[in-house]
Amino acid sequence: MSARITVAESAGFCFGVQRAVDAVLEEAATGAAVCTLGPIIHNRIVVDSLAARGITVIDTPQQAGADRHVVIRSHGVGADVYRYFEEHGIRFRDATCPFVAKIHRLVSELGTDDLLIVAGDPDHPEVRGILGHCSADSIVIRDTVELSSICFAELEHKNRIVLIAQTTFPEFEWEKCLFSMKKVCTKVQIFDTICNATSLRQQEAAKLAERSDVMIVIGDRRSSNTAKLAAICRDRTKTFWIETAQELDPKEFRGVKTVGITAGASTPSGIIKEVHETMSEILEKQQEELSFEEMLDQSFKSTSNGEKVTGIVTDIKPNEIFVDIGTKHAGYVPLSELSDDPNAKTEELVKKGDELELLVVRVNDVEGTVMLSKKRLDAQAGFEKVMSAVDTGEVLDGVVTDVIKGGVLALTNGVKVFIPASQATLSRGEDLNELLKKPVRFKILEVNRQRRRAVGSIRIVAREAKKALEEQFWAQVEVGQKYTGTVKSLTDYGAFVDLGGVDGMVHISELSWGKIRHPSQVVNVGDVIDVFVKDIDPEKKKVSLGYKKDEDNPWEILRKNYAVGQVIKTKVVSLTTFGAFAEVIPGIDGLIHISQIARERVGKPSDVLSVGQEVEAKITELDFERRRVSLSIRALLEEAAAAQEKAPAAEEEAPAQEAEAPAEESAE
Ligand code: F3S
Repeated sequence: MSARITVAESAGFCFGVQRAVDAVLEEAATGAAVCTLGPIIHNRIVVDSLAARGITVIDTPQQAGADRHVVIRSHGVGADVYRYFEEHGIRFRDATCPFVAKIHRLVSELGTDDLLIVAGDPDHPEVRGILGHCSADSIVIRDTVELSSICFAELEHKNRIVLIAQTTFPEFEWEKCLFSMKKVCTKVQIFDTICNATSLRQQEAAKLAERSDVMIVIGDRRSSNTAKLAAICRDRTKTFWIETAQELDPKEFRGVKTVGITAGASTPSGIIKEVHETMSEILEKQQEELSFEEMLDQSFKSTSNGEKVTGIVTDIKPNEIFVDIGTKHAGYVPLSELSDDPNAKTEELVKKGDELELLVVRVNDVEGTVMLSKKRLDAQAGFEKVMSAVDTGEVLDGVVTDVIKGGVLALTNGVKVFIPASQATLSRGEDLNELLKKPVRFKILEVNRQRRRAVGSIRIVAREAKKALEEQFWAQVEVGQKYTGTVKSLTDYGAFVDLGGVDGMVHISELSWGKIRHPSQVVNVGDVIDVFVKDIDPEKKKVSLGYKKDEDNPWEILRKNYAVGQVIKTKVVSLTTFGAFAEVIPGIDGLIHISQIARERVGKPSDVLSVGQEVEAKITELDFERRRVSLSIRALLEEAAAAQEKAPAAEEEAPAQEAEAPAEESAE
């Protein structure tokens, strides 16, 4: 079996760090003398290679001379630093991560009567930068313990209390803070400012570590996010934290079959690639070196009860399967130790050649057999997985098996987890029965190892997924872009449409070219409709949508199909003191001015016309600029009268012709 190496997709630079490094390189490419305020990233190798190109690091704004371009790194800085640069005419490029800059804007709106609570590390440059934009009192808390030491009763006089998080604050600790916060202070306004790049990287590392014999975590020894990654991996498998490929020791990887590689946010892709290549070479070489003796030794290796082994399925019978566990013993797994499902069939569960993780249940040296169990190992691993998820914040997949008093039970990895009603759905008040037998994703909030109990939250995961969709939406949305969305709710002034994580609004005036009294005249809740983006406000997270289409614009239809002088059949839709409005085409009403209703003087339009009455009228004016149509009944009446005035003369001639006709006929 050849060894497998998997590199985590999220390994390496995040968006903000990549942007900052690019900014430094772009500035340097202009030929300017460039320096960074603090190391651009926590990676000695990158900083050294930049230094070799003349890009230096300064520690304070005062060290920047007027001759150098200063790059502000992704962590951001306080408002005083910008002021200093501006007052001293120092050129600078702001590479503050946009997610951090957003927090700066948020806290700068707080006044001296307010209180800012930051969940984060008070010594971290990002937190110092955030506080440097805030004129309100502030408290920095590292975790729930520090949060619970705040006496909120003494802070009642504060106008606003705002809670935010450092972008890299552990998401799970944040959820726990929110959980506690809601119990002690209802007045607090919470802004979830955590960037999910970090948590995605951690979740992926946890999953990879679980299926790898060895994990390699690459990153600078001073990088806190790399330290966290290493800790997560170490909890799950043998882990090496290295800075470069040179630190890989081939001796450490003897017999290793699966290797996972991840890297901190400050590790450049070049280093990750080098580690991958070196690791491949090490494993290939070892494969070649594996001697016949070693293989023979392995086959005589014994095993003992409770041991975890890997086996390859060699034969499948209705009630058991046989596996090769690489020892002199013949291994078998009874069906009852393969699955909990009484209807399960061995051939549906495994196939020949499958590699299984198994638990040794009983070794029989006399018979040379070993009974193994997959079920017990899965249950053991499942329980450990659920227990450890409380620290890692890993998202677990499960199925809701019961709706009980106060919440639901979800089965995951063979363990039933209680999910309180308040944590079971995205918004409160939803029917829990809707969840029954449905697959759900959740995080573990609390565990009790002795009682083997765990409490989880679907809500946290649903909120994260919503946030991720929102971020994705805002990253790619543009004015004019078309979407297909679902109408979520209606108000008197418009329809809210779910565009997939973000709601946009179609104002009532944008729903139809004609006049409507309520959006329900055009759309209903649940309708799937095509819309386009008319306007966006990323700050306020507002999206204005358009629904009505240009080709349906009645003024264009009118322009193409109607002309002045044309006579139309129309219906009176309203009456005023100065005339009557009649529908020319749906969406356009024309005015029949009071003077144009009849030949004689009309006292008021209702003396002659009534709403709903059908009349013939002539188009006397089409004003596309001012969007007006003028109609006249009188013009038609006058034409009719004129025609009648001519009629007597015609009548006088007609009898003569008639009189002549018989004569002509008779002449023939
Ligand atoms: Fe920005 Fe998130 Fe990276 S806040 S710097 S993209 S971890």
